[in-house]
Amino acid sequence: MKKRLALLFGGRSGEHEISIISARSIASAVNKAKFDVVPIYITRKGEWLSKSASQKVLNIDFEPLLKSPKALKKTHTDIAALTKKSRFNFDFSNIDVAFPALHGTFGEDGTVQGCLDVFNVPYVGCGVLASALTMDKAFAKVCFQQAGLNVGAYHVVRRSDLKTRLNDILDAAEAELGYPMFVKPANSGSSVGISKAKTRNDLKAALTLAAQYDRKLLIEKGIDAREIEVAALGNDTVVTSAIGEIVPCNEFYDYDAKYVKGDSKLFIPADLSDTIAAEVHLAAKIAYRSTGCEGMARVDFFLERGTNTLYINELNTIPGFTSISMYPKLFAAAGLPYPKLINRLIALALERHKDIQRNKI
Ligand SMILES: Nc1ncnc2c1ncn2[C@@H]1O[C@H](COP(=O)(O)OP(=O)(O)O)[C@@H](O)[C@H]1O
Ligand SMILES: [Mg+2]
Repeated sequence: MKKRLALLFGGRSGEHEISIISARSIASAVNKAKFDVVPIYITRKGEWLSKSASQKVLNIDFEPLLKSPKALKKTHTDIAALTKKSRFNFDFSNIDVAFPALHGTFGEDGTVQGCLDVFNVPYVGCGVLASALTMDKAFAKVCFQQAGLNVGAYHVVRRSDLKTRLNDILDAAEAELGYPMFVKPANSGSSVGISKAKTRNDLKAALTLAAQYDRKLLIEKGIDAREIEVAALGNDTVVTSAIGEIVPCNEFYDYDAKYVKGDSKLFIPADLSDTIAAEVHLAAKIAYRSTGCEGMARVDFFLERGTNTLYINELNTIPGFTSISMYPKLFAAAGLPYPKLINRLIALALERHKDIQRNKI
């Protein structure tokens, strides 16, 4: 008997389109002999669409649309017309396992995971706690530090603080962090709302921008570093992939450098000494464990130029899943090709769910 796999995509996040692109890749790599894919598209407003309407969205290639705001807008208008007609009825009784291919808020942050737990549906990736914890860049840093990993200097500020004590915030950041700084919404992804500040005016503008996306903001000391990423997989035991390096085509790895320009370079494996590579693998496993990850995560580091100090930057529990995304590429380089990786992730989801069912309630 084939299992029915609900593929959740879209969602209420700034990474809505990236999620659609990830979902298309996953859908094409799923082993069709073993699984029937039930696409469930979640609109930007949070409506869940029926299988047939969702399939229509999944058929659209969003990759070229990212480069053309006008065409993208038109596509969303067409999709809005679909939304009125057909809704998913939240009957999960015939779903065997779900793959939330949702990035960012309301997808990667534990909310959808909680929803699936309520319905008792097994799902790919981390549970509620790890998803929520790592989505909040400030809380994730506390766990990483507690586990003994290097975290760059940072301040946390509230959006409301910008009204009441902006000058104090700027003074403290200048005194304790120094330029350049990076300002980010605590719950961000795909570099949305992130900027690099080199002057006090930049810093003010960066805080104003980030405050559009979250109530909690981070100001980080800019680290002059190589960007190193490693993928991790597993429930009770975790394995890591080959290590990759990203060389952004812009001054930093912003949204444009990630998805629009396409000139950023990925190097797999990253050119690292054996000692540093071992440090990266170990740090990734520690990060995964310290935040309670299960299923999968991509762990991102900064390797400081000059000192070779390894800082953890962030951990993504639903990393990009397009065929050219880092997570699948890193495992492919480690001998686990994309379709097998998808199979493995689904197997881990079922295994985790089965183990949870052993708990007495
Ligand atoms: N403290 C920092 N020092 C240097 N570069 C940074 C720093 N923080 C972020 N960046 C740059 O901004 C990019 C996006 O930041 P990141 O924290 O990874 O957010 P996102 O979750 O959106 O990927 C990084 O890949 C890097 O290029
Ligand atoms: Mg990042």
